[in-house]
Amino acid sequence: MSRKIIVAGNWKMNKNAAEGKALVEALKNELADLDFNEVEVVVCPPFTTISSVIEAASGSAIGVGAQNIHWAPSGAFTGEISADMLVSTGVKYVIIGHSERRQYFGETDATVNSRLKAAIAAGLIPIVCVGETLAEREGNRTEEVLARQITEGFAGISAEDGAKIIVAYEPVWAIGTGKTATPDIAQAAHSFIRSQLAGVFGTDAAEAIRIQYGGSMKPENARALLSQPDIDGGLIGGAALKADSFAKLIREAVAGSKN
Ligand code: PGA
Repeated sequence: MSRKIIVAGNWKMNKNAAEGKALVEALKNELADLDFNEVEVVVCPPFTTISSVIEAASGSAIGVGAQNIHWAPSGAFTGEISADMLVSTGVKYVIIGHSERRQYFGETDATVNSRLKAAIAAGLIPIVCVGETLAEREGNRTEEVLARQITEGFAGISAEDGAKIIVAYEPVWAIGTGKTATPDIAQAAHSFIRSQLAGVFGTDAAEAIRIQYGGSMKPENARALLSQPDIDGGLIGGAALKADSFAKLIREAVAGSKN
């Protein structure tokens, strides 16, 4: 099965409204001749930058996503944002369960599961992050951790909905550290993740699900990573904050996916 690759920029807590607009305008120029049939491109700004980015991206094929979603439709949840609020901004994607949220904001597999259900119900495309810490990898617990994150995070989701989810494999030790997983290490994890997805959703859905790699992906390593059979894109932090590096990375990813 051929899966359309997807490269998404996770801006984290960077770029105010004006800076986000400028970045997307520069990105539109950089990608003017890109064949968007070959790759889906998404940017995920902070909540307060979403509306200026949506405006700047309009008329282009660049998709826009949020970085978090609350599971309740409304109510006394100070500081949180509901699915309906996200939909009303025009975003189409939402990152769920990023390791920084697991590490600093008490995110668990159970809260990931609740957020995922809210996103699916609202028709948003979820990008669900999984990945092991350095201690877990060194303790030979990578597969155990990934299996738990997938079975608990994706519990109670139908195969039909499951097929639309995007999974991002982000080994925590590779995020923002400059240490990328080698293409072989990443491929082994992606293949394991796909086998776990098959256990939850069945083989057809698992074959349709796109699995991004994330963690110090750059223009220099994107091609080799995307050459791997189970790596279907990237979730990019640092290298997505400049239009030229993000555009270069996207082109390298497309080239790699054709190998
Ligand atoms: P990085 O971040 O590319 O800066 O390592 C990736 C991510 O956290 O999504």
